Amino acid sequence: MNAEHTTEASEIRGGGDPLAIMYVLAAVAMGIGALIVVVLMFVPSDWSQRRSAEDVWVPGQTEWEPLSVSAGLDEPVGVTEVSPGHYVVVMEAYNWAFRPNEIRVPVGSQVTFRARSAQDYHGLALVGTPVLLSLQQNTITEASHTFEEAGEHLFVCSEYCGAGHVSMTGRVIVQ
Ligand code: CUA
Repeated sequence: MNAEHTTEASEIRGGGDPLAIMYVLAAVAMGIGALIVVVLMFVPSDWSQRRSAEDVWVPGQTEWEPLSVSAGLDEPVGVTEVSPGHYVVVMEAYNWAFRPNEIRVPVGSQVTFRARSAQDYHGLALVGTPVLLSLQQNTITEASHTFEEAGEHLFVCSEYCGAGHVSMTGRVIVQ
């Protein structure tokens, strides 16, 4: 009885309709193609520049022009040591990234995140810390945290903001 069952099962598996298999393969291939097109649509044209080595932000670095043009929001993005061991990170969110998106500070630093949105509505959540900010246009919000240990903290956009939401990430590297 058991042997018969085994035979039947293998006959069913071996007897798949070749046309049906081709349809499934074609559908999978089309799905992958569509996914690639969608991903390419949302990759900014200057993506490679943004991810270059320049995109590592260290204290004292504030070169980039801010995107915000509103009065009072023209403080350049970057990382500045305002007093010994206290750093201010001026940060801007836009569709769909943060500037700066990789920040390096020494162990023991107190870091004040002073953040705003240049486009639409975003959030800033620094994993493993209480830092959680809502970022709106024409508004600056702040939160501070002291990093007692070396390591990396991921930060992400905490408000759903559209197709590129999941790509809004960055890191604070405490070294
Ligand atoms: Cu920006 Cu979600």
